[in-house]
Amino acid sequence: MRTIARATEPARPSASAAVIAALALVFPALACRAQTSGADGQEAFQLLCSACHGPDGKGRDGPLRPAGVDPSLLDLTNARVRDLSDTQLRIRIQYGGDKMPPPGGRPGTLDAGVVDSLIRYVRALNDSNSPAASPSRDYGSLGQGAAFYLNHCAQCHGFDGRGSAHVARALNVDPSSLDLTTAPPQTRSLEDFRRLLSRGTGKMLPLSRLPDPQELDGLIRYIQELASLASSAPESTDPVDTPPRSLLAAQDDAFAVVIGAGKSSLPEIPPARGADNDARVMRDYLIKAMGYRERNVLLLVDDKATRASAIKAVGGWLKNRADKKSRVFFYFSGHGSRDPVSGNDMLDLYDTDPGYLSQTALSLQRLFGLLRDIPAQDKSVVLDACFLAGPRAIAMAGLRPLKSGNSARPPVDALVMTATGPNQVGAGEVSSNHGLFTYYLLSGLHGAAASPKDGSITVDRLYAYVKASVEKAARRRNIEQTPLLYAPPDQPAAHRPWVILAR
Ligand code: HEC
Ligand code: HEC
Repeated sequence: MRTIARATEPARPSASAAVIAALALVFPALACRAQTSGADGQEAFQLLCSACHGPDGKGRDGPLRPAGVDPSLLDLTNARVRDLSDTQLRIRIQYGGDKMPPPGGRPGTLDAGVVDSLIRYVRALNDSNSPAASPSRDYGSLGQGAAFYLNHCAQCHGFDGRGSAHVARALNVDPSSLDLTTAPPQTRSLEDFRRLLSRGTGKMLPLSRLPDPQELDGLIRYIQELASLASSAPESTDPVDTPPRSLLAAQDDAFAVVIGAGKSSLPEIPPARGADNDARVMRDYLIKAMGYRERNVLLLVDDKATRASAIKAVGGWLKNRADKKSRVFFYFSGHGSRDPVSGNDMLDLYDTDPGYLSQTALSLQRLFGLLRDIPAQDKSVVLDACFLAGPRAIAMAGLRPLKSGNSARPPVDALVMTATGPNQVGAGEVSSNHGLFTYYLLSGLHGAAASPKDGSITVDRLYAYVKASVEKAARRRNIEQTPLLYAPPDQPAAHRPWVILAR
């Protein structure tokens, strides 16, 4: 039996993927604890940050620091961090960075008082005269337990402790036998648990290295956290994530390209949070509510959302399919930027390098040019990005900044709806894991913008709803953001309903 496990033991996922996945899980638990533990910056720091930045903030010995990240980038005691303003620190802590997940896995959820205390603590670490600069190394066993779990258990029991379906198949065991969250080890005695790990079970190999007492303690606490998360984790609850029932029948000649450029190949660029999810849910809406066939919607997210594939998607895939009678739809969610040389507004893709915008981002001019070459009469473009000069703009994680400039009035034969007006910064994402603009776009299409008479959602109703909602939500964050609509009357998209709700 043991040989089976050995022979089929799956390859361990890369350490960084493991860490990112695990942190999304361990963070909510840690975040709640930090919130209940008052304004003690040190405690919050040890719980939320030391696992990666190290107990002393020097970035050398955090057990969960992502693999492949230069420790100097994790050093919070250097001049680079000293020069960050409070606002920059606050944004970083609330929203994370490329390899740094936001506390709780969701941006903007940490209590403001905790954030303030963390800022004070990071400042204290930076001041070599402060006692915080040499804290005790004992930062609890949880981080070590998490690291132990990732290295020795997650490949079979899953990052969430609920068991890997793939491994269950390979080992020919019932998937539920791999679920550690239903019968968590705290129901056994410590001795019993230790024995289990040293002897293994029928199909679980004995561990080659047993945890030391502190790791064992941390391992048990970590599995407890996973168990309490599993029992409390809400399944995706946001109603806008489920398209409404719609009367629009799918048409053979309707085609859409949907891009979510949430990630960047460059570690220094913060993710456009929610952008990939925006795109996935938008695709669902197109297929289930807006009359597009599944095979006629091309989705590019994650590392597939490169500049070349975006150009190929519009200039090749879309162009080759659409004819005069077709309806085409282009959607983008992600960062935008303004090319400082040409002044052009650009969409930033996975492989965009802010140092070489004109070569590596997709200018609106180019996009509109590609769309112009498509013979269809009915074209719609929806852009959840804003445009602002220079790479500094995107350095402000979470704000999805970028303003709209000379291309605010699009020279294109399409209906265009954008997240922001000229020279505005977008207010970023909402906690529901969508961009603010897309969130209200979806909720409008979900029914909030429907005509009470016949349930139809036309673009003028949709725009009126999105504009009012986004303006209001942005104002609450002290930001002016007005979505724009450019709707040439000869575009059928300006008149026909985008969704007709089924009653
Ligand atoms: C998953 C590990 C991880 C955790 C946990 C984590 N960070 Fe980070 N942090 C990183 C990484 C990696 C970087 C650098 C690369 C990047 O931006 O993703 C970073 C960068 C930073 C920076 C920017 C440093 C600079 O030079 O600009 C600050 C400030 C920071 N973290 C503060 C915190 C604070 C405060 C916490 C706790 C609330 C925290 N981090 C939790 C991984 C983490
Ligand atoms: C190679 C895959 C594999 C790895 C790695 C693994 N397990 Fe298991 N584990 C199993 C399987 C399979 C079972 C189900 C029992 C059986 O069929 O033998 C199991 C069962 C368990 C059980 C319940 C046993 C019982 O008798 O109730 C616990 C607790 C457990 N594992 C904890 C761990 C911990 C902690 C780690 C990491 C230190 C770990 N496992 C690593 C495959 C694995």
